[in-house]
Amino acid sequence: MTARVACLSPFSEQTVRDLVDSRHPVEVVLVPDPPAQEAVLEATHLAHLVIADQRHKHRIDRRVLENMRNCLLIQAASVGFDTVDHRAAAELGIPVANCAGYNREAVADWTVLAMLALVRRGGWADRQMRQEGGWWSQQELLGHELGSLSVGIIGLGNVGGTVARRLTGFGSRILYADPDPSREFPGAERIDLDELLGTADVVTVHVPLDVETRGLIGREAFARMKPGAIFINASRGPVVDEAALVHALDLGHLAGAGLDVFETEPLAADSPLRKFDRVFLSPHFAGTTVEARQRLREMIATNLNRVLDGEAPFNIVNQVAVRS
Ligand SMILES: NC(=O)c1ccc[n+]([C@@H]2O[C@H](COP(=O)([O-])OP(=O)(O)OC[C@H]3O[C@@H](n4cnc5c(N)ncnc54)[C@H](O)[C@@H]3O)[C@@H](O)[C@H]2O)c1
Repeated sequence: MTARVACLSPFSEQTVRDLVDSRHPVEVVLVPDPPAQEAVLEATHLAHLVIADQRHKHRIDRRVLENMRNCLLIQAASVGFDTVDHRAAAELGIPVANCAGYNREAVADWTVLAMLALVRRGGWADRQMRQEGGWWSQQELLGHELGSLSVGIIGLGNVGGTVARRLTGFGSRILYADPDPSREFPGAERIDLDELLGTADVVTVHVPLDVETRGLIGREAFARMKPGAIFINASRGPVVDEAALVHALDLGHLAGAGLDVFETEPLAADSPLRKFDRVFLSPHFAGTTVEARQRLREMIATNLNRVLDGEAPFNIVNQVAVRS
């Protein structure tokens, strides 16, 4: 049988072909850049395997899912799978898998980068030095050592746990909140979310975006944070109420924020977040490194080939078994 693979990610036909073992004949259907929801509907209609959109733009909603006739697996080309209606997929018996953990090291590196840039005012000092004659007194740039601070990690999964591992080297006090009782890290203290918000000098969020976490960090959460706290988000934009974040920064309640993800991406040219000196911004690239990209392709390839070989794929996120 020739397997039809619909790819919603910006991969070339050859890249998709290279993911599948040559033992399996495949037909590859690519989808134009978003927005192209009708093309998504058409491409996925008869597909056996669907690679979801790495850019988190093309959505696999109920309408797309109900139109699928042959789908054996929807493979997210990412950790987050919030652009796939995974509950509807479960109702329809369509398994959804992600690439759990493939970029944990990359996102943890970025998170520490953001922490250091903020506690030592690294980004700001660099920008000022580029202005003519830029030079500031040590007093104005006086920062903190990361090891002297308490860092609160919300979500101690693959990324949060890897951030904890890095922070151990700095000597920071590590607090975390996570509803999963199996999540732990030596030396890290589990506390409830409200206590974490009120205790940590740096709060960093690493939860998936889902119905329970949309808007998790809003006005109330920011108000609970210590005056002068630093807030970091490399999870998904809608986990944070951006207007509430801007408000907390405007008030001067937060000393700074590090943001890789936003409610709307790309971030609007006139977003108020761009005006704050003490906000460290990046274009949703925390998880993107040469090494992570290689692991991503290996994980996608493994799952596509396992399904074509009649084996169960790894990292199913909606508890649906694959039909053979
Ligand atoms: N910025 C990027 O480039 C980038 C890259 C990778 C992942 N991400 C995002 O980061 C998220 C986390 O990644 P991961 O690999 O660590 O995922 P993961 O699934 O390994 O860990 C998520 C953790 O969050 C916990 N959690 C869920 N709800 C929670 C809540 N309400 N409060 C506290 N903890 C909660 C879970 O129990 C789990 O331990 C992903 O879902 C993805 O959306 C972003």
